[in-house]
Amino acid sequence: MDTNLIKLPRIYDSTGSLSIVEGGTTIPFEIKRVYYLYDLGSGSIRGSHAHRSLRQLFIAMSGSFEVTLHNGAEESRYTLNNPDLGLLVPEMTWRSVGNFSSGAVCCVLASDHYFEGDYIREFDEFLRLFN
Ligand code: TYD
Repeated sequence: MDTNLIKLPRIYDSTGSLSIVEGGTTIPFEIKRVYYLYDLGSGSIRGSHAHRSLRQLFIAMSGSFEVTLHNGAEESRYTLNNPDLGLLVPEMTWRSVGNFSSGAVCCVLASDHYFEGDYIREFDEFLRLFN
């Protein structure tokens, strides 16, 4: 499996399923913030930025969507459509998120609090930082 994809533990029986994310155990960072995207238009594109030091885990809590990652050298595409799968997005990774299904909920677990100064919002600047 791609190293960015993390299969989350799932405990299930006839009544339903439960998945777990533990900071520092299931994922390689402590969780300081959780946010989620919802009410998303099918044509919406979110993200389109990178973070200098923030690390994140994306989970499709409901429905599905696509995440495109660029690590400065190459691009990778992922479809998230199961709440027991997390996509690790390391620091200095450009991401865009789109192709949301109806009712999609994109949950993001983040390694730090919100800080606008950590964002790189121009793709040219992102690429320049690798040179
Ligand atoms: P942004 O991270 O650009 O959203 P996305 O990547 O989903 O397109 O954030 C959108 C707006 O929300 C922007 O004005 C910053 C604000 N915001 C906060 O105030 N706190 C947060 O924790 C996040 C993630 C965003």
